[in-house]
Amino acid sequence: MQLVFATNNKNKLKEVKALIPKRIKLLSLKDIGCFEDIPETQNTIKGNAIQKAEFIKTNYGYDCFADDTGLEVQALNGEPGVYSARYAGPQRDDTDNMDLLLKKLESKSTRNGQFKTVIALHLNNKLTTFEGICKGEITTFKHGEGGFGYDPIFKPDDYNQTFAEMDLHLKNKIGHRGKATIQLVAFLSKIS
Ligand code: IMP
Repeated sequence: MQLVFATNNKNKLKEVKALIPKRIKLLSLKDIGCFEDIPETQNTIKGNAIQKAEFIKTNYGYDCFADDTGLEVQALNGEPGVYSARYAGPQRDDTDNMDLLLKKLESKSTRNGQFKTVIALHLNNKLTTFEGICKGEITTFKHGEGGFGYDPIFKPDDYNQTFAEMDLHLKNKIGHRGKATIQLVAFLSKIS
């Protein structure tokens, strides 16, 4: 079986690749000649994941899956949520996004939040979605050099490290994307 993973994010690719069995051949967007921006204009994480997977199927004809992720912070009514990538502006800068979130939380008494990933799979003309959630809290300062995005300021419940201080194996085991990917792998195992 071969499937396109519709992402240009090297970190997402690394995390997902580590969980996908070798018998499933993962194709990149480059492999299928897709060099355009894939639209993600929906107002939910699930909607965006579906939009990305459908875009590839419709325009390139490949079976594929796409991931969309957001960080939902309770004291900010679920912000940045679906706007996580461009929270601090269209430049989509990780440092700017984290700094804005830390600033907005300065006046708040609680800092808990969750990462949510939805993976949308387009296979044999059928769409299936898988959701992974990881609960935790937003730290006061950035810690760690690993990972990407908001990883330096997210500490999962029951751990004393941020995602950016964990190795890929541990982040994948307890993290949102890992949980969604495990469900994807289980689903694919049943049909192939
Ligand atoms: P998207 O799923 O690529 O649209 O990501 C939305 C935003 O969340 C971007 O700013 C990403 O950097 C960030 N993000 C996505 N996945 C993770 C993660 O696993 N850890 C930290 N930040 C993430």
